[in-house]
Amino acid sequence: MERLTRIVCLLSLLGLAASSNEGALSLILQRMDRSADPCEDFQKFSSGKFLEVHEGENVYSLQNVAVQKYNEQLQELFDDLKDTNFIDESSVEEKVWQLYNTCSTAPKKTHSWKHYLQLVSPNLDLPWPQFTPRGGEWPQERFQWLVTLARLRRFGFKNFLIPMDLTTKSNDSSQLLISLGSHPIKTIPEVSDTEELLISLKVSREKAALLASNITDLESDLQKLAEEDNSLVQYMTTEEFEERTSISIGHYLEIVLGSSIDSGFELEVLQITYLEGLKNVIEKYDSEVVATHLVVGFIRYLKSMDGSESNGDPAMCAAAVGVLMQPASEFLYKNLHFGEEELQRNVEEVQRIFKIISNTFMARLADNRLNLTSAEVQHLQEKLSAMTVRVGNLPNVEDQRSFVTNFYSDLNLNTNLDYAEAQLKVLEHLNRKILEQLDRPIPRGKEFYLFHSQLNAATEGTFYETNNMIILPYLILQEPYFSPEMHDVFKLSYLGYLIAGEILIYYDPYYLSFDSLGNNSTLLGNFEEHQGYIDGISCLNRTETRAISYRVIDVLALELVYDSYFGKDSTLSKDQPCFFKVPLEQLFLLNFSQLLIGNYYGLGDPNDVSLHASVSNLKAFGETFSCPANATLNPPIRCTIW
Ligand SMILES: *[C@@H]1O[C@H](CO)[C@@H](O)[C@H](O)[C@H]1NC(C)=O
Ligand SMILES: *[C@@H]1O[C@H](CO)[C@@H](O)[C@H](O)[C@H]1NC(C)=O
Ligand SMILES: *[C@@H]1O[C@H](CO)[C@@H](O)[C@H](O)[C@H]1NC(C)=O
Ligand SMILES: *[C@@H]1O[C@H](CO)[C@@H](O)[C@H](O)[C@H]1NC(C)=O
Ligand SMILES: *[C@@H]1O[C@H](CO)[C@@H](O)[C@H](O)[C@H]1NC(C)=O
Ligand SMILES: *[C@@H]1O[C@H](CO)[C@@H](O)[C@H](O)[C@H]1NC(C)=O
Ligand SMILES: *[C@@H]1O[C@H](CO)[C@@H](O)[C@H](O)[C@H]1NC(C)=O
Ligand SMILES: *[C@@H]1O[C@H](CO)[C@@H](O)[C@H](O)[C@H]1NC(C)=O
Repeated sequence: MERLTRIVCLLSLLGLAASSNEGALSLILQRMDRSADPCEDFQKFSSGKFLEVHEGENVYSLQNVAVQKYNEQLQELFDDLKDTNFIDESSVEEKVWQLYNTCSTAPKKTHSWKHYLQLVSPNLDLPWPQFTPRGGEWPQERFQWLVTLARLRRFGFKNFLIPMDLTTKSNDSSQLLISLGSHPIKTIPEVSDTEELLISLKVSREKAALLASNITDLESDLQKLAEEDNSLVQYMTTEEFEERTSISIGHYLEIVLGSSIDSGFELEVLQITYLEGLKNVIEKYDSEVVATHLVVGFIRYLKSMDGSESNGDPAMCAAAVGVLMQPASEFLYKNLHFGEEELQRNVEEVQRIFKIISNTFMARLADNRLNLTSAEVQHLQEKLSAMTVRVGNLPNVEDQRSFVTNFYSDLNLNTNLDYAEAQLKVLEHLNRKILEQLDRPIPRGKEFYLFHSQLNAATEGTFYETNNMIILPYLILQEPYFSPEMHDVFKLSYLGYLIAGEILIYYDPYYLSFDSLGNNSTLLGNFEEHQGYIDGISCLNRTETRAISYRVIDVLALELVYDSYFGKDSTLSKDQPCFFKVPLEQLFLLNFSQLLIGNYYGLGDPNDVSLHASVSNLKAFGETFSCPANATLNPPIRCTIW
């Protein structure tokens, strides 16, 4: 046996893949802090030297590394467009190049926030209060907050006042409708932050301090109002909405959509109590305060996009174009970055991993630990059978070029070297396209696509919520996420884990009320009241968590993927990597935990809390690290749901 492995090792060392694997393996060891006890603080043990090892490399998380690499690749690709003679002036290549080139070469002053505000005014013939000439008076009577909000929403403005999104109809998942009030204000920006932003717009210090404090008051009032709202989802027409809230939502929507609507236009309303109180809160404040709140919010929205404030830096411009023109960038990346066979091999591997995990989960559902009725088990299994995974947002059709060309056919970027103008034009175009999806059924199967406005490549690369589909961004087709040459233990321990998490999101009580087609169904609609679920949740809630639904996913995804790899039915490769003494079980958990470092979950728990919840509920963890029975991460009782 000894002899055999040595020979195999020597052989594989000759290949490049093997040597790069070895480098990654030794990195895994270097990041560990062996002075820590894995059974007490696994994060410290597995990753205690992470920042030290990567000092000076600008690496805080490995996911971030993948995004950086992706953006570098995009930049190379965009730079190459420079030397291409476009036969067709209206090609996507030409349009992408124009935006990228404008971003990297336009005068700096066209990147300034002030310039954006000059291009987007609060109303026709009304400038922002910040542009009132010295000694002049801002004609505040001409300010109408709802009109201004609508004018900004045309650029996709994600705002605190009336959050607006698209959602599928609950009884027909092929139709979209507008949903209002979905993202209540979570954290209020610091007063000093708002003040600085205003000063950067050349507002005097004195005035900025005053306005910032008023804006913060307004934001606190809005937050309070949102927190007091316990209302359930409601469906109503714009006419009913107007009666209840005294907000002329019809007029607002006509400006946002750029077309007229009838009074029976249907809306999903998530926070009616909040919306009913909104007008009163806003009217408590001076117009100047409200207008300035919108100025600040709009700039924050623009700032939150990848590559914002590039000031012409080509790397940041590439990142900006990557999200601003996502469909075009994805199309170019996919075709220029991969060879056809290479791409196919990658995608097949992703499908293989998905299938393995889905089979493990299917078997678990069949075991029916929760003693559900057979109709319920069938509902759960049908959902899983119907679930698909895809790499890329674009529809999986033969002629993607036509699709993308058509998508951009009405975007005309002129050759003015004005970056703010170009970005606003692209944003307005994108958001118009997104809203046009309201007018037709969502395509199904391979043809499926649903555009959202994406502000960041990393955090918004995947989305679910619809039609049982998991969409992964192209950037995952590279290390550290994945490469076709990787050992199966690494493919499963991270990409597998991500996919398992995405599958499980569909098994959250909220999504359980949707069937395999994505329509609402009465089966399992009240899963939250099921005793087995209640018991599982209260067990998982033994250690503190910020959000129980993320906790469920943290714990179950690891269980599912660990079981997929090490379970008795697994046929995945268990060859010990050469010259590497760490057992596969440990390697799996180390590789997994290092990839969580610096991962920002937003509403979920901090990294260490989430990692420790995952491993302490995994039976194999205690065994793998020979933890004593009284160790913190080796509790006598383990929790699970399914
Ligand atoms: C779906 O719900 C809407 C109301 O929200 C109703 O008008 C429509 O008839 C329903 N369709 C079906 C097929 O149940
Ligand atoms: C469910 O939604 C699909 C489209 O997503 C639609 O074709 C189908 O008719 C709906 N089924 C029911 C029972 O409403
Ligand atoms: C703005 O703040 C000042 C003091 O910070 C306060 O006196 C004034 O009433 C506030 N204005 C409004 C409209 O809230
Ligand atoms: C399911 O039923 C079995 C046998 O009746 C029982 O032992 C088990 O505790 C039940 N599980 C749950 C979660 O209710
Ligand atoms: C996990 O292992 C793979 C393969 O060696 C590697 O590419 C990846 O970077 C590793 N992950 C971490 C966190 O080191
Ligand atoms: C399904 O949707 C219809 C129409 O929106 C609604 O009336 C019904 O209550 C929903 N059913 C469930 C179980 O949510
Ligand atoms: C979890 O426990 C905390 C207190 O320990 C409690 O406030 C919270 O409601 C619990 N959450 C769930 C979902 O049971
Ligand atoms: C576990 O028990 C051993 C032996 O009783 C003791 O030495 C150790 O301190 C305990 N560890 C913890 C974390 O309680």
